[in-house]
Amino acid sequence: MEQYVIKGGKPLTGEVTIGGAKNAALGILAAAVMADETVTLDNLPDVRDINVMLQAIEEIGAKVERVDKHVVKINGSNITSVSIEYEYMRKIRASYYLLGALLGKYKAAQVSLPGGCDIGSRPIDQHIKGFRMLGANVNVDQGVIDAKADKLTGSHIYLDMVTVGATINIMLAACLAEGKTIIENAAKEPHIVDVANFLNSMGANIKGAGTDVIRIRGVERLHGSEYSIVPDMIEAGTFMVAAAATKGDVLIKNVIPKHLEATTAKLTEVGAKVEEYDDAVRVCATGRLGNTHIKTLPYPGFPTDMQPQITTLLALSEGTSIVTESIFENRFRYVDELSRMGATITVEGNSAIVNGVQGFKGAAISAPDLRAGAALVIAGLVAEGITQIDQIEYIQRGYEDFEEKIRNLGATIERMDVEDEKSLKKFKLKVG
Ligand code: UD1
Repeated sequence: MEQYVIKGGKPLTGEVTIGGAKNAALGILAAAVMADETVTLDNLPDVRDINVMLQAIEEIGAKVERVDKHVVKINGSNITSVSIEYEYMRKIRASYYLLGALLGKYKAAQVSLPGGCDIGSRPIDQHIKGFRMLGANVNVDQGVIDAKADKLTGSHIYLDMVTVGATINIMLAACLAEGKTIIENAAKEPHIVDVANFLNSMGANIKGAGTDVIRIRGVERLHGSEYSIVPDMIEAGTFMVAAAATKGDVLIKNVIPKHLEATTAKLTEVGAKVEEYDDAVRVCATGRLGNTHIKTLPYPGFPTDMQPQITTLLALSEGTSIVTESIFENRFRYVDELSRMGATITVEGNSAIVNGVQGFKGAAISAPDLRAGAALVIAGLVAEGITQIDQIEYIQRGYEDFEEKIRNLGATIERMDVEDEKSLKKFKLKVG
């Protein structure tokens, strides 16, 4: 088990380059096995969730060749199994995208019910409803979802709530269904558009991704493709907030500024300065930032995956802010950890009432999930003294070279084994 040890108090300054979007890549990797020809993917993030997904598709017989850290070739022509081991599902929830992909291609798929970050109850009824409407028989027995169909037929599917996962999963299966599928009340996140663009590059016929009505005309087969994954808006947003919270000045490169608008708007509202370029944003802040109210919503609303980071910033801003989480009910578990560093936040139902304090004090804390973990790192960067964050395997699920990128911006952060007393002592001695 590893931990981050941070000596806070330095503003982040310099440049950071953002990697490919983890959540787009998870859908795209599932889609890649739907072709019998080779697919080459570029800008793949080298993070734990992606590596688990690659193992899962290798396990069912797909050929996976890692050309380099960010490029992979996948060939799905020799798939021998349509059953995904529980081991993978336990580690990454998004391996359920293989359900849609394999059901579309082989008209059969089996996966265990998904795991992932514990941020709420996360049902998958809409995925199952969609598959059934395409003509599949879906049974859920002892935690295993078994989907089978003689053939899939296009259908008119209305999603009861806006869901990223169900939109992608249904889109995958519908690509190879007979006839036309319409998904209404579809999610509009940039990674939905990226998965759709990738499928289209393989010969699928998907229109409307990025709006709330997606129209898919089924095709008989998908072919090989070369594709570069979209930049990660949550990694970018995390660095934007880190720059503002530390009163730094950071140029965040390889981003699509449009995808960051919700974060940009809120940072500007509290007094940070955000400059947009073609494929970069620069964030700087001086003095104490102000308060605001935030409600997480599906895209283009404020992303739930940015909620812990922005709440951390607001916990240091002047005045009272209210943050309402409307997507996942269990996403304030990091508040207790922040409180140990001096934050004054009260959670009532799905809202956090944040009374800004002047500063945080370093403490020994635990990352409760991926984005909350990143938020606690931001807290450590701002705090006076030393912060130790354990359970960083959550953070490694979704941030590539996180501590290295932060260190390159001038901060003092080390990754070390939690048992490694010697390195900890050395660190403390070095930072004084
Ligand atoms: C994806 C992202 C996650 C992000 C979330 C919301 C990936 C791998 N993960 O998660 O990082 O926080 O979108 O932007 O892309 N719901 C149902 N029934 C369903 C499906 C969803 O009730 O069948 C509910 C969920 O409990 C939640 C809401 O719908 O309250 C949104 O969930 P969804 O958009 O599906 O999230 P994920 O795809 O799991």
